[in-house]
Amino acid sequence: MKKILITGSSGFIGFHISKFLIKRKYIVIGIDSHNNYYSKNIKKKRLSILKKNRNFFFNKIDINNKQKLKKVFQKFLPNAVIHLAGQPGVLYSFKNPKSYYVNNTNATKTLCKISKDFKIKKFIFGSSSSVYGDQKNFPILENAKLNPKNVYAKTKLKSEGIVNKTFLRSRTNFIIFRFFTVFGPYGRPDMFIHKFLNHIKLNKLINIHNNGLNFRDFTFVDDVVKILEKSLKKEITNTIINLCRSKPILTKKLIRIILKHYPAKKNLLKKTMFVKGEMYKTHGSNTKLKKIFGKIKFTDLENGLKKTINNYIKNKI
Ligand SMILES: NC(=O)c1ccc[n+]([C@@H]2O[C@H](COP(=O)([O-])OP(=O)(O)OC[C@H]3O[C@@H](n4cnc5c(N)ncnc54)[C@H](O)[C@@H]3O)[C@@H](O)[C@H]2O)c1
Repeated sequence: MKKILITGSSGFIGFHISKFLIKRKYIVIGIDSHNNYYSKNIKKKRLSILKKNRNFFFNKIDINNKQKLKKVFQKFLPNAVIHLAGQPGVLYSFKNPKSYYVNNTNATKTLCKISKDFKIKKFIFGSSSSVYGDQKNFPILENAKLNPKNVYAKTKLKSEGIVNKTFLRSRTNFIIFRFFTVFGPYGRPDMFIHKFLNHIKLNKLINIHNNGLNFRDFTFVDDVVKILEKSLKKEITNTIINLCRSKPILTKKLIRIILKHYPAKKNLLKKTMFVKGEMYKTHGSNTKLKKIFGKIKFTDLENGLKKTINNYIKNKI
């Protein structure tokens, strides 16, 4: 399985998996629309790093464009697809719900249809822990009752359904990974860690939702990428797997660790109430993940943060 098509290759996770696979001699076909949800410069910077490699082929297209997408499949005939393009972000989904229907639901439908037509062997989809919504029992198992609380979560769940329906009785095997708050170098500026780093740099106040009392199950991007690569090689048929460390941390505590390694000049924390649509706690079970992939050595949160901060200081992203 050598030719891998990656959607969202200039995005945070897409960039990391592309870089990882290129190094391991896969041929990587990247697709990204470079939309302006966040700074295009960050996407361009990630792309410029990938483009230094001869086994990386980039196509700047929107996956909603069936004709252009089909041409990419015809030209490269990929063996597997890793689908990471999409519209992320919980709060923005209240402002611009349409972009979620277009870039998550519709885009997934178009991509799945073409992948099926081209008899792709494996289809890997990056879904989200947000499909669980608020739960009572932790850690959350894959078969928990789903309770999506916002348009982002609803469109991710709908996309899972499309993947399932398209490939269930086809020659394509699918794996749906539910990612739990992925972080790392070149991270997304709309997510808490990079947002906070930017605010510290600019000495600007930052809103701390729910007084810093939310829990998040942070997962370091290098760990995610290693599992994605293993899943290309392993015989796994049509399943949904949580991808998480299963060690949630209070935002308050996370802030302390960040400040230890990247101190602020003054107190920048502006505590705010609970924000509608957000989950109070994410804490996934990774029992199924470990059962399938064996023992996994997850990166410790503080070490992951140090790597993220060092890269932020060095490369300004
Ligand atoms: N980062 C996380 O913590 C996290 C957690 C759960 C799920 N996810 C999911 O993982 C995937 C990747 O997340 P990320 O953090 O790398 O996000 P990202 O926003 O950095 O990357 C997504 C990329 O997709 C591109 N894109 C969007 N719509 C497109 C379209 N129609 N056609 C082509 N390209 C398009 C964007 O330009 C962007 O570069 C997303 O689907 C997201 O929902 C991420």
